Amino acid sequence: IQEKKLDKQQKAIDHAMDFIKKKGEHSTKSRWYPVYHIAAPTGWINDPNGFCFFAGKYHLFYQYHPYSAQWGPMYWGHVISEDLVHWKNVRVALAPVDEYDKDGCFSGSAITKDGKLYLLYTGHVNLPLDEKTEVDRIESQCLAISYDGITFEKIARNPVIHCPKGDNIHKGHFRDPKMWQHDEHYYTVIGAQNSKERGQVLLFESTDLEQWTFKSIMASCSGNEGYMWECPNFVEVDGQEVFIFSPQGIEPEDKKFLNHHQSGYMLGKLDYESGIFHHGAFELLDYGFDFYAPQVIQAPDGRCIMIGWLAMWESEMPEQEDGWAGIMTIPRELHMENGKLKICPIQEMENLREQSRVYENIELYEADSLDGISGEFGELLTVMDLSGTETMQINLRCSSEEETVLSYDKRKQIFSLDRNCAGKGPKGQREIKIGLQNNCLKLRIFIDKSSIEIFLNDGEAVLSARIYPNKESSRIIFSPGGGKLRLTQVAFYSL
Ligand code: FRU
Repeated sequence: IQEKKLDKQQKAIDHAMDFIKKKGEHSTKSRWYPVYHIAAPTGWINDPNGFCFFAGKYHLFYQYHPYSAQWGPMYWGHVISEDLVHWKNVRVALAPVDEYDKDGCFSGSAITKDGKLYLLYTGHVNLPLDEKTEVDRIESQCLAISYDGITFEKIARNPVIHCPKGDNIHKGHFRDPKMWQHDEHYYTVIGAQNSKERGQVLLFESTDLEQWTFKSIMASCSGNEGYMWECPNFVEVDGQEVFIFSPQGIEPEDKKFLNHHQSGYMLGKLDYESGIFHHGAFELLDYGFDFYAPQVIQAPDGRCIMIGWLAMWESEMPEQEDGWAGIMTIPRELHMENGKLKICPIQEMENLREQSRVYENIELYEADSLDGISGEFGELLTVMDLSGTETMQINLRCSSEEETVLSYDKRKQIFSLDRNCAGKGPKGQREIKIGLQNNCLKLRIFIDKSSIEIFLNDGEAVLSARIYPNKESSRIIFSPGGGKLRLTQVAFYSL
């Protein structure tokens, strides 16, 4: 039976790989295909999965539908890197061919044990909706193991975790296991819903990764925290325990929570005895339009590194015309500073820097561009002194018809990102309240063909967005709002 199963999955993967080879050439030539972000060679991707370091290399898997640019029965795509910035797509790792995962190998995580790589993922099976219980699916957790980090075998006794019975646990929504090790034990959090359709997270424990026992409802929704908690992560950042998750259904509050779904975190402390996580309030991880389902790992050198899906459910995705959809964010490093979570690009991003153009102490009295500071992709670093002006504006990916506008209002302390004229695709504006440091605002911006990631004041806030301008829209214009804007530093690196 074991051999037959392996066969079935590997055959499905061979088929997918042939298809990818044929279509990949077209998709990767798309005008919006990224230069340095992780993307699939063709087809649809969503959540990052199974982020890990195994046998000397970083592995990242992703929710993948190779056969079209739309979401469909999920496979696991797979990229490998030695340095976290140059990634290579390799053989698809999982295919939805078994009775317990026939409608999708949904999100999950990875862990290494005894020289082997273990993937724990959600097997998803659709059921006709039961009006009484409101259950329309079976979701259970399944294990696949690899010796070489390329070929994965699902174990014979899958699924290894079934949705626990309990008055307060919805029988349908039960997915996205994220494992970690603590003392001699393995733990996994799993995203779930309670019987009143509010989000919660369940905690399980194991000694061998195959037998798992249900420990607790680790945390649950109180107030405006959504109806389903997807993609939970539990990590320790600089000694502080952090619960990261992607709640669906948070209601907008003024200018906050405007995206279709949110990704955020709560700081707290897990009591391993009771399995209860005592925590503070929910905070966002990203203030832009497109950031979801992040996965965080502890790298071998101890750094906490996070990658998210740089897209959003229900959002317009113009790249679908070209046969593909979705990219991952650049890897981001998490730190705690004075009780606050800071998010910065990983240091290795600097290894991608090729040519640079650098200016210092430029004074602007009107809108202007700088020679060599432009591009369809690259890294823009700037420190702006706003002592002499009340507002400032930067127009990126700019032409006479298109622009993505960043601005800052000193009086209101509001930074905003506006993609209403960015080109094709989704529109809108997002903002965040952020103070200046010695009258200066520091921006580190990663521009790729169809994306922008803006890091403010050394990790105080991040805003990510997909944008779809023409190739020709590559200018960058800096404007003071009336007074004098001093660009203490401006650098543009081609990547
Ligand atoms: C989050 C999610 C997960 C699920 C996967 C399916 O974006 O909905 O909860 O496992 O995507 O592709």
